[in-house]
Amino acid sequence: MAQFSWTDDLCTGNSLIDGDHRKLISMVNALLDSMAKGQANDIMSKVLNNLILYTKEHFGREEAEMQRIRYVASLSHKSEHTKLIKQVLELKASLDAGERINAVSVSGFLCDWLRNHILTVDMKLAAALKSQPQAA
Ligand SMILES: [Fe+2]
Repeated sequence: MAQFSWTDDLCTGNSLIDGDHRKLISMVNALLDSMAKGQANDIMSKVLNNLILYTKEHFGREEAEMQRIRYVASLSHKSEHTKLIKQVLELKASLDAGERINAVSVSGFLCDWLRNHILTVDMKLAAALKSQPQAA
């Protein structure tokens, strides 16, 4: 299964966000690797759980930055985060219930979501942060 490669077009120019995204991509790749190896559901669930925990931390950091600058698009951006967390929690519930998951569709979904989210809403957030003074 193809891995998610970091490419320069994903760089938002915000070091906090970019650092988080690099780590997120490596954690998505750990999950893809686990699925590709056909590992047992409990192992995939643990790998996915690590990804979920880190994703929540990352979204929290972005949302704190949105609040700091009173970002105008924060509601729509946050709703994308909430929706993704709901979807990955559903995936974890399926794994924990012993269901077989479709590795190709899960990997396509995660990679497409992350790439699209970074290239659209996160780029706009990074641009808004850049135009604001830094926190005192
Ligand atoms: Fe985001």
